[in-house]
Formats: sequence, structure tokens, C-alpha cells
Amino acid sequence: ARRQFFVGGNWKSNGTQASVRELCEQVLNSTSIDFSRVQVVVAPAFIFLQFARSLLRPNIAVSAQNCSLTGSGPFTGEVAVEHIVDLGLNWTILGHSERRNLYGETDDIVSKKVNRALAHGLSVIACFGENLQERKSGITLDVVARQLDSLKKGIIDWNKVVLAYEPVWAIGTGINATPEQAQEVHAMIRNWLSTNVSAEVAERTRVIYGGSVTDQNAAQLISKNDVDGFLVGGASLKPAFRVILEVTN
Ligand code: G3H
Repeated sequence: ARRQFFVGGNWKSNGTQASVRELCEQVLNSTSIDFSRVQVVVAPAFIFLQFARSLLRPNIAVSAQNCSLTGSGPFTGEVAVEHIVDLGLNWTILGHSERRNLYGETDDIVSKKVNRALAHGLSVIACFGENLQERKSGITLDVVARQLDSLKKGIIDWNKVVLAYEPVWAIGTGINATPEQAQEVHAMIRNWLSTNVSAEVAERTRVIYGGSVTDQNAAQLISKNDVDGFLVGGASLKPAFRVILEVTN
């Protein structure tokens, strides 16, 4: 049987109370998708987590976009896994390229955060992917393998992990990986899982694609065998997100 599709909406540092309400009520609560075929998770900024949770239908999950490396305590400005758990939420994104590139999160920091989140019972959307330079140099698969090796050190429960392949050059650029490019890397990831974890985990783990996914390219991307869904940025803030969810129907 095919793995259950997974579509995440990463709202990043966007939105207002009014726009969050509109997205939840007008776009997300009105979809007519088959939730047994696709799991839907949206990630608003921390400040809107509880608000979005209160508005959304129960079969759409709410995720954080990050969590701190520390627990609750004297860490001014940080949001800990414990806080996310306390809100009754089950998910966090970790290792997004914006965290890695703009806020200095190394492979090691990301893997420690993943470990913390899993240890406290959260599920994790773990992000990684090569940059343009790396792709042009032909080392994409090596870079992805290095990132996976590091993530693996933190992963204590593969059942709670969704792997999000997000080539940095495709994020927010309007230039998506072609379905063939995505499939090539996703197949390599599944191969890596089979070799480094187990055949069962390789078969079961959802590997999703992120980077300029739109209502125009989602159907072709999802047609590839090893593409199990998407992590959508810009288009998840628009009515087009509903079209993306519906291509999994
Ligand atoms: O997490 C989402 C990715 O960064 C993709 O963003 O769809 O705006 O390219 P994008």
C-alpha cells in the first residue's frame, strides 16, 4: 500500500491575526480532501499557534516551526519543546534552511533539537537539502547523505519523523526541482534509509519535497513514486494551498 501522503504548510514569519483566521476558516476548514489519504499539518509562527489550533478542524494538525535546544528555564526569548507539548501540539519543523543559514544552526544543533523533540513525544518534520553551489558541483547526494547521517544521531523513533527534502535553491525562488530531480534525490534518501536504518523504515517513512511548490506543479511532483507529499511555504498562505492539498485526492 502507498504511504499516506503528507502535506505541510510552513507559514514562516508571516501573517496577522486576521490573515491566520482567514486561512484557517476560508481555506483549510473548507477542503473536501480525504484525510485517510493525506495528513495535513500547518505551521504558523509561535505567536499564532494557539489561535490557529482553536480555529482549525481537528483533523488538521498544528506544528511549531522550530524549538529551542534548551528546556524551560532562564532562556530569554526561547520557546522550548515543553511549551509546544503543553499547548497539546504534536509537531515541530526542525532544520529548515532558513534556521541553518540565517540563524547558524549546524547539523549538530539540528540533530540535538530533533533528539529533544522526539524525547518529549513530538513528531518532527526534519528538513535538509543542498544549496545551488553544491548542486552545480555535482555533490548533491553527498551533501544530503551527510545531513542524514547527522540527523540519524538524534532520531530515537523513526515512526515520528517525516523527512523534508528542500533544495535551498528552490526555496522561495519560483524555481522548483523538476519531478525528475526530486525523484532522484528522494530515491537516494530511501536507499540511504534502507542501508543505514532498515528496509522497513525505508518503506514506511514519508519523504516530502519543499521548494516553490505551487498549484501548478504539485500534481506532477506527487506523481513520482518516492515523493510522498510537500512542505509548502509561500503557496500555503494562499487559496492555492487548497488546490495543492486536493492533488493528493
Ligand atoms: O518550508 C517551506 C519551504 O521553505 C518552501 O518555501 O514554498 O516558499 O519555496 P516556498
